[in-house]
Amino acid sequence: AIDIGKLRKETGMITYDPGFVNTGSCSSSVTFIDGEKGILRYRGYDVDDLAENCEFIEVAYLLINGSLPTREEKAKYTNLLNQHSLIHEDMIEFFRHYPEHSHPMAVLSAMAVSLSSFYPEMSENHKEELSMTVTRLLSKLRTIAAFSYKKSIGEPIVYPRHDLRYCENFLNMMFNSPVCDMPYNDTMTESLNKLLIIHADHEQNCSASVVRGVGSAGANLYAAISGGICALWGPLHGGANQHVIEMLENIMEEGGNIDKVLERAKSKRSPFRLMGFGHRVYKSYDPRAKIAKALCKEVMASLNKHDPLLDLAMELEEKALADPYFQERGLYPNVDFYTGLTYREMGIPTNMFTVMFAIGRLPGWIAQFMEMRKDPHGRISRPRQIYTGPSVRKVVPIDQR
Ligand code: ACO
Repeated sequence: AIDIGKLRKETGMITYDPGFVNTGSCSSSVTFIDGEKGILRYRGYDVDDLAENCEFIEVAYLLINGSLPTREEKAKYTNLLNQHSLIHEDMIEFFRHYPEHSHPMAVLSAMAVSLSSFYPEMSENHKEELSMTVTRLLSKLRTIAAFSYKKSIGEPIVYPRHDLRYCENFLNMMFNSPVCDMPYNDTMTESLNKLLIIHADHEQNCSASVVRGVGSAGANLYAAISGGICALWGPLHGGANQHVIEMLENIMEEGGNIDKVLERAKSKRSPFRLMGFGHRVYKSYDPRAKIAKALCKEVMASLNKHDPLLDLAMELEEKALADPYFQERGLYPNVDFYTGLTYREMGIPTNMFTVMFAIGRLPGWIAQFMEMRKDPHGRISRPRQIYTGPSVRKVVPIDQR
């Protein structure tokens, strides 16, 4: 590899790469993507293989520890996560004081960093402390997400249960209510498991880079994850899953004219983009979108539902893929195009979609943070710039300006 620091000292030159389109910020053994062939692998395993054969917590274990757990390791890990699933009663108080229409991503990010006050890293043994923080985050973020949903609909919270598996426990906390016991089915639990797996990591994306950046300054993992949640919220990143549904609903309300929408997305005069389309790395079909599309149909069939928004989405996809504008730029549906629709079929409200993404992405962020901390070449993340402001100026006293 080129020693950029040496090159800069010798030549005074810096690399100008807006958006880091072609800049490798680290070396990593966590996730492999081939954007031309549509391949995504975690620690060497194809994402389809993992989604088909594993539970989400096995994949979380894989990302964080480097190998899939044995049966005993999985049982121990499940127990550990169960033991830490509750949050401090004083934290539960927080939910009462957020305004009624707070976005759940704002609440999630604030609560994630607040965990550092309630569960600070106190001991000298950093390795052990980090491992406890990882366990707490994996288990408690899911509880926080479900509690914030219950608060938003004005229902009493449902506490986590030790006898339920990770995804079922989450669905139970979300949907169990005084009027409705067990309002979810096995297909929903299995689908949620797969959705969380396809979200689990995606190498140096915007939020993972934020997590690494915050951590590179020496800040704790809770703070880094809170930063990652904020980055994920953006509509060009994980927030796109919410915006896809809003876009489809708008198209439907305006009469379903897909050609008009495509013209708007192609026009350089309009800032509008087709939400859930395009990706920095994939220039072919996003393998996660294929899985999400199939899941959406399975969930609907299991609930005996028909959603005209899915028909609209598929028609939109077909027309966009046949259009030279999208073909020339390699714009295909990304992970967010069908995940939102699947969550919607499960009864998860639109403003919770990006929260679901965050729960799935959490192990990836943790793995990226831990790898960054162990990297012998790791340094504080600190890019340079091309300065374009005024040259030297003198302050004019305020009464003469
Ligand atoms: N609709 C219309 N045109 C698009 C779209 C889109 N969704 N995405 C990219 N383009 C066009 C751009 O206008 C540009 O055209 P040009 O070459 O004529 O100027 C070209 O395709 C390349 O786009 P860039 O913005 O340079 O690509 P970049 O890699 O910077 O952005 C991004 C990737 C942000 C995902 C972009 O495709 C986009 O905005 N998509 C919509 C939002 C979205 O779905 N985000 C979720 C991504 S997946 C994730 O983060 C989990």
